[in-house]
Amino acid sequence: MTETKSSNVVWHRATVTRERRELQNNHRSAILWFTGLSGAGKSTLAHATEERLHQMGCRTFVMDGDNVRHGLCGDLGFSLEDRDENIRRISEVAKLMMEAGVIVMTAFISPLRTHRESARGIAPHGDFIEFFCDSPIEVCEARDVKGLYKKARSGEIKEFTGISSPYEPPERPDLVVNTAELTLDDSVRRVIDLLTLRGVI
Ligand code: ADX
Repeated sequence: MTETKSSNVVWHRATVTRERRELQNNHRSAILWFTGLSGAGKSTLAHATEERLHQMGCRTFVMDGDNVRHGLCGDLGFSLEDRDENIRRISEVAKLMMEAGVIVMTAFISPLRTHRESARGIAPHGDFIEFFCDSPIEVCEARDVKGLYKKARSGEIKEFTGISSPYEPPERPDLVVNTAELTLDDSVRRVIDLLTLRGVI
């Protein structure tokens, strides 16, 4: 639980609960946490998974690093401290969305194990599913879709993940998706298979 500055605030219990929403939706809600280097395919996989789930009639939402950093986290940079705060805000929002009955997909580098562990910690056991988009930095850098690796190598961008800022691969993710070798369809299938196995859908 995050420390709070507000006193005299009492939690108001909703009568429309998460359980009732899940019954109405006909699926469980969950947080699908995609982690990996910039350019590893987190957003692509999250959006393709959302597309598939949406077609199946599920309630979904994708929270994406580049988008959230325009608004909710627009005041944050890329120091480890700011990334920590970025992940804290995102996990709190993801938790609210999960309470609202949604299958939330988050696509953030979330480079440190402590980031992912604290995000996992705010969701009850089993509701947080971690997907490691595993693509070697050489592949991400060769693709360099946004031209950021080039800028990071030249020093124009400081504290760039994998170059001048750390990335700690997950030790025990729920699923490793080898995004460098699998097709997008195959990657989505693996994610969906796990959600079925875990009884989310
Ligand atoms: S996180 O580390 O706090 O989880 P987040 O996923 O929100 O990062 O943002 C990563 C995206 O911001 C990257 O995909 C990239 O487009 C952009 N970016 C800009 N500067 C950096 C940087 N120094 N390190 C990593 N990504 C950066």
